[in-house]
Amino acid sequence: MTAYATLLTELSDGILLITINREEKMNALNKTVIAELDNVIDEVYNNPEIKGAIITGKGAKSFVAGADISEFKGMDKAAGMALAKRGHSVFNKIEMSPKPVIAAVNGFALGGGCELAMACHLRIASENAKFGQPEVNLGIIPGYGGTQRLTQLIGKGKALELLMTGDMIDANCAERLGLVNDVVQTVELLDVSRAILKKIVSKAPYAIAQVIQSVYAHFKSGIDGFDTEIELFGKCVETKDFEEGTTAFLEKRKPNFKGA
Ligand code: COA
Repeated sequence: MTAYATLLTELSDGILLITINREEKMNALNKTVIAELDNVIDEVYNNPEIKGAIITGKGAKSFVAGADISEFKGMDKAAGMALAKRGHSVFNKIEMSPKPVIAAVNGFALGGGCELAMACHLRIASENAKFGQPEVNLGIIPGYGGTQRLTQLIGKGKALELLMTGDMIDANCAERLGLVNDVVQTVELLDVSRAILKKIVSKAPYAIAQVIQSVYAHFKSGIDGFDTEIELFGKCVETKDFEEGTTAFLEKRKPNFKGA
């Protein structure tokens, strides 16, 4: 595994734990963190030993408290758009990862932190987690996909409320809105996230990658999600894992998937 300046990584049992390691700055996303997230997600894509990943923040207080505001000073329109474009590219890469990525939200998930969590496939939150898009307090809007992914996850009405008030909501409220999948005790956060990911990676990996592609096809303009599903279903039935899965069922044994 590559060593990173702002990320801690630990690979165990095929699960890569990625910890954003700027605790003194509430794990705010500066340019280095964004660049290193880009690189570590490439590792997730390309390293066959990695079956899935968990993203969390260092410390007991914050997952990620947003983009690093100290890097905003003196930006003009072109620089602002470049910053947003870079974030979009990295977060899109996370979202389209063929291997499952879970956000283990261990505290504040504000601005870019909420956007990062939303770019992951699932979000598990500790009881002390807090979510919000407070950009309007700074005179900006979310720039890492927040207006789109929040609307997709919780619907237009509540998304507009959170985006326009800048209010923070707690983990239970986030769960009620569908922003998080589950709320767990803080001490259990990583164990529960690992258990969910282990269950997912025990399934046929190729099928999991097609689930991700097919679901996100719904949100891509110019693409018909139903047509995508038909096409990807067809691809799945051509795999050895499909043969293995159906044979194992009929033979009343556990399947042994190979990922192809
Ligand atoms: N960018 C840069 N630095 C940040 C940051 C961010 N998004 N969020 C927190 N920090 C820094 C603080 O400046 C402070 O640094 P310092 O110790 O050098 O002064 C340190 O992290 C601790 O934060 P602090 O505000 O003292 O902690 P708190 O417990 O009082 O408040 C928050 C925690 C998360 C509520 C508060 O830090 C906050 O509102 N952060 C900004 C959230 C935001 O607007 N995000 C969207 C950005 S687009």
